[in-house]
Amino acid sequence: MRILERRFVQAFVQMANEGYEQGWHERNGGNLSYRLTEHEVDSVRDRLLDHGEWHEIGASVPGLAGEFFLVTGTGKFFRNIVVDPEASIALIEIDEKGEKYRIRWGLVEGGLPTSELPTHLLNHEVKKRVTGGKHRIIYHAHTTNIIALSYVLPLDDLIFTRELWEMATECPVVFPEGVGVVPWMVPGGREIGIATSELMEEYNAVIWAHHGMFCSGETFDSTFGLMHTIEKAAEILVKVRSMSPTKLQTITPDQFRALAKGFNITLPEKFLYEKDENGMPKK
Ligand code: 13P
Ligand code: ZN
Repeated sequence: MRILERRFVQAFVQMANEGYEQGWHERNGGNLSYRLTEHEVDSVRDRLLDHGEWHEIGASVPGLAGEFFLVTGTGKFFRNIVVDPEASIALIEIDEKGEKYRIRWGLVEGGLPTSELPTHLLNHEVKKRVTGGKHRIIYHAHTTNIIALSYVLPLDDLIFTRELWEMATECPVVFPEGVGVVPWMVPGGREIGIATSELMEEYNAVIWAHHGMFCSGETFDSTFGLMHTIEKAAEILVKVRSMSPTKLQTITPDQFRALAKGFNITLPEKFLYEKDENGMPKK
């Protein structure tokens, strides 16, 4: 079977296209990576190139030594992934130290993996460890409403989480651990990757101020669904704030506690703070 016909490749391409259709991937904006299972690696092994040269990752990820990832290419447009996947995405192999990678398939017209590879791999390394290997997907999108909110809300995990939770009853059920926020930083390098991956120890979603969001998940569906849920909550918040600077009513801390009980989830108390007259945490 051709690599393109493999189920995981098709699911990857489908998810990339759905993100494009949401309007989250202007030009080459955003990137996606998937850590293959051993079985998937074996199933494609006889179709891989074996002469690719080794490149520096730009970060050290010993916890991912020998792993294979399907990744989007740098500068490649998401709108073209479904049209010509072999030219837009690549299968890469990590070396035995977790310092280098080489391309084993894809990017047939040339190119390299996403410039956000350090952040993707540092996030994968944390998530592989904290989920016992369950999480396999890291997804970066330029989600319009989350970006807009990063100009008007304090860049604080507590405030973003609480404001987003209040926008739809299902939100705390979908992301009970909350969302992390990274202040503006230069993208494409190790430093922003480390800041993001530190937050990934606790969260499955991390906002990059004035840039977009990263989500981690076990399946393509749950990772896309997380991005979609948070961005939709952000859209509602943008609408609410456009109509009025204050809320007449909202979901209260006690209602969140009741929801946690009813849905058998844990909502950390740090997000259920008392608010002052401006809606900010009471000092
Ligand atoms: P790449 O084209 O290198 O994936 O970069 C897009 C992007 O969103 C950078 O943050
Ligand atoms: Zn980006």
